[in-house]
Amino acid sequence: MLHKHKSVWRELHTSFEFFGHVVDDDLKMPTIEQPHSDAPLDDERFAEIVVSKPISIIVPTYKENANIPSMIERVRQLKEAHAIELELIFMDDKSRDGSVETVEAAGLDWVRIVERDGERGLSPAVIDGFRLARNPVLICMDCDLSHPPEKIPHLVLALSSGQQFVIGSRYVPGASTDDDWGVLRWLNSRIATLMARPLTSARDPMSGFFALRRADFENAQDLNPVGYKIGLELIVKCGFENVAEVPIHFADRVHGESKLTLREQLKYIKHIRRLYIHEFGNAMHFMQFLVVGASGTVVNLLVLFALLKMGLSEPVSLAGGICVSLITNFLLNRRFTFSYARDRNPWAQFAGFLGASLVGMLVNYAVALFLVSSVLQDAPSSVYIAALAGIASGVLFNFLGNRYLVFRKRYIRR
Ligand code: GDD
Ligand code: MN
Repeated sequence: MLHKHKSVWRELHTSFEFFGHVVDDDLKMPTIEQPHSDAPLDDERFAEIVVSKPISIIVPTYKENANIPSMIERVRQLKEAHAIELELIFMDDKSRDGSVETVEAAGLDWVRIVERDGERGLSPAVIDGFRLARNPVLICMDCDLSHPPEKIPHLVLALSSGQQFVIGSRYVPGASTDDDWGVLRWLNSRIATLMARPLTSARDPMSGFFALRRADFENAQDLNPVGYKIGLELIVKCGFENVAEVPIHFADRVHGESKLTLREQLKYIKHIRRLYIHEFGNAMHFMQFLVVGASGTVVNLLVLFALLKMGLSEPVSLAGGICVSLITNFLLNRRFTFSYARDRNPWAQFAGFLGASLVGMLVNYAVALFLVSSVLQDAPSSVYIAALAGIASGVLFNFLGNRYLVFRKRYIRR
């Protein structure tokens, strides 16, 4: 199912609902302390946001010891300025760089650090953190001070006004990023965002700064992120319809380097494919089937060309092209289109695949013949229309045969 998301949350609604409310106060100066890089917005001169339910801030960390003290300090300032009840949980993957000692030395009862066991990873760390969180509002953010904690009340207010998922966004009007972003990182981020467009119309679904209700998180079905796009995973798997974006200033990390290696980034392709399948199911299988079919045409022609060049006769070369393309089509479909069935006997599947192709051809022929002989009028173009309709039915039949017989789903492969 395709969800249309409201992509930009434009107004600050005055709201006295569940999680937060706005106190109108012309005389009072803004109490949100702005970081030096984040110029005060005018609207903050007119109202103050009061966060009225406790929140849990989850911060995944890997070797962030140098950033932890400032992170705690910024959150402490926020907590005090707004009298927010909150817990701050660092989810650390055995950094062993003194992070644990640093958090313990801070000696604050609302701050803790959890050392995870098992597989290292940003997304699983965030999911584990959300499971440990005790408060009804969950916030996720980086530890490197790229994400301004001062925006948390705005995220909470958006939730309070009925939004289900709120992103601290780099790509909505009013947002900005530090200049030091190289062209490559910028391009990379943009392409990744574009690939997520069919899943959500949010401008910055890749952001690692977001808020949601714990109750919604608990309803998330089969969370299974690969890589680090945990926000996108949540938007899709929770089926959020109302996604809001609050503009932020995305600062360069203060200490250390980004943990996101190229290898980590490549996992995004795998992740996005899974999300497409989750969201579009058969349409996605069908699309892959069509792409494989198109590749088969190219293979067929190339082999034909090669065999003719080698001096083989036309009948033999034509047959060669068909055979080779049948094999490549089978292998590609088995590997990609129907990859969930990869663990089953390939020979039986190949036999089934050939059978389905044969039936597809018969359907193709029968439909074309029927159309041209008893439906379409006697016109020069009729036979071509009939042929196209035949091809379409043949392909569809072929797909259904493969999808529901040859490569039927027994269970979903993870
Ligand atoms: N526990 C844990 N395990 N934390 C990790 C791991 C891990 O394997 N890898 C990274 N982190 C932590 C970092 O310590 C940091 O606090 C946060 O996750 C984000 O990692 P960065 O290294 O700061 O990533 P980035 O700034 O390059 O990427 C940011 O922008 C992306 C969008 O472009 C992050 O906000 C990403 O979440 C976001 O998708
Ligand atoms: Mn970062």
